Amino acid sequence: MSAASRTPAGTLRPEHAGKTVRLMGWVNRRRDHGDLVFIDLRDRSGLAQAVFDARFLPDAAILALAKELRNEFVVDVSGSVVARDPDAVNPDLPTGAIEVRATSLAILNRADTPPFPIEDGIKVAEDLRLTHRYLDLRRPEMTRKLMTRSAVTMSIREVLHAEGFLDVETPILTKSTPEGARDFLVPSRVHPGEFYALPQSPQLFKQLLMVSGMERYYQIARCFRDEDLRADRQPEFTQVDIEMSFPTEEAVFALIERLFAKVFPPLGIPCPDTFPRMTYDEAMERFGIDRPDTRFGLELKSLDEAMFKENISSKVDRLKGLCVPGGVSFSRKRLDDIEKGARAAGVDWFFWVKTAAAGSWNSNSKKIFSDASVEQLRSMFGAAETDLVLISGGKAKSVFDFLGALRGQIAREEKLIPDGRYDFLWVTGFPLLEWHEEDARWYAMHHPFTSPREEDLSFLESDPGRVKARAYDVVLNGMELGGGSIRIHRPEVQSRLFTALGIGPDEARAKFGFLLDAFRFGAPPHGGIALGLDRMLMILTGSSSIRDVIAFPKTASGTDLMTDCPNPVSAEQLAELNIALAKPPKGES
Ligand code: AMO
Repeated sequence: MSAASRTPAGTLRPEHAGKTVRLMGWVNRRRDHGDLVFIDLRDRSGLAQAVFDARFLPDAAILALAKELRNEFVVDVSGSVVARDPDAVNPDLPTGAIEVRATSLAILNRADTPPFPIEDGIKVAEDLRLTHRYLDLRRPEMTRKLMTRSAVTMSIREVLHAEGFLDVETPILTKSTPEGARDFLVPSRVHPGEFYALPQSPQLFKQLLMVSGMERYYQIARCFRDEDLRADRQPEFTQVDIEMSFPTEEAVFALIERLFAKVFPPLGIPCPDTFPRMTYDEAMERFGIDRPDTRFGLELKSLDEAMFKENISSKVDRLKGLCVPGGVSFSRKRLDDIEKGARAAGVDWFFWVKTAAAGSWNSNSKKIFSDASVEQLRSMFGAAETDLVLISGGKAKSVFDFLGALRGQIAREEKLIPDGRYDFLWVTGFPLLEWHEEDARWYAMHHPFTSPREEDLSFLESDPGRVKARAYDVVLNGMELGGGSIRIHRPEVQSRLFTALGIGPDEARAKFGFLLDAFRFGAPPHGGIALGLDRMLMILTGSSSIRDVIAFPKTASGTDLMTDCPNPVSAEQLAELNIALAKPPKGES
């Protein structure tokens, strides 16, 4: 008869030979050899082979039932574990040295033919996978990713609990304080015409918890941002959100380094005891980006001293270049595409120079360069005759954006990024504010609760661009894993920052009055960080898309293909919420 309790199929090993086991799971594959039917039975733990062999079955009906099995049928199989014949051992399967000689079978459910094979490495449109996500997650590589996610959140909780952090939940229905991304709004039925917002992060609540004396808070918090999606962005994502009272930057860094040391190495990613640090200014000048990938070279060099600069008619804020080893092989088409990218990025100047020996060099702008200035470029970059120098000039932001992105693109295309290397980095010394030309005003680079450096405070009104923030980001291989800051805890500093941001006293009171009030009642110095859990998992599971580490993600256009949302709601629901649509939903007239 059946063994009473269920054994995970993937855990069976030769030492279990002779044991009676009961497996429950899905038919991964069935092979019918007449008197012998094999199935690969899959459950969350893996696969095991069960064999229905007429010679050992108590009843011929069981063999007949086994012949009915199809992929994805749900079955309950009991039998004894036996070692496979040496020539039948499957070395690719952890359970490949044994099989289960079945003595009973129950079909718990039948299944239609799935729309794609339930196996790893399938080449099928992602939309189809997302439409049937429950099947996609049955595929072992996807199941493993969710198992890793669960193990990682568990170990994060263990570390933070051991370090004295309290897990506190903060509201999901909260106040709209648009800053940075757009809010998702939720209409109130009880208060017609009024709205809640879904939190972009628990930022203000975690600060208020410090005013409440919680001292150390964390939350694995769901955040919502209505922003353009990318490979590493979802509208709904998860942060490991942390805040502490009486901290220093050093205390936050050390905590995260201890946390990562527990999380990354068990999954095969080496993690140094302390991470290197780089200032924002250095990151921009050397890599053109505030989250540099330091695993490869192609660093930007300043060309202010270059001879060819005299031939550039306009004044350039930055003139920078990078040297691509072996880039002489870049085709004209590829260089034209790069030039198009430069134009799209809004740089004033773009040059490529193939720095071959004097006389035979080439460029898209031959009149700007001469034998002597190319020779100088070669020595500035230490370039070989087979190298290519790419140069851009113009406003700092466009030059950095363009060259920073180009550097990454070329590194990927030319396969310059070493496998198996993991570069953790702290980026510090961010500017507190950044100027936006479009609406001619200052914006907070992180958020408006970030503390300026004490020594820069006096410039907040006179020279806002010069003020550095006590903010930091943690970067891994060019991906921003997290960011945080020491916060403002003095109401007068917070008011000055609001003024610098063009937020007047009335607006500040309307939006953040509760925070300013709280600060008047003995707010401790505080600070923290939020880590992007989904991004950490992308790296921990080697996934190129954030969607692969989220059970039910949204597509790049923010839809859920499985439940088909967002979707129109009934006129009654809208009326109840006091909402009239300015335009009918798409597809309705
Ligand atoms: P920030 O906005 O930098 O800081 O977010 C922290 C981290 O969250 C992750 N992240 C995202 N992950 C997936 N999809 C998104 N759309 C997305 N947006 C952000 C990133 C990022 O580094 N309250 C502050 C933190 C603080 O100051 O303590 C905050 O939210 O990995």
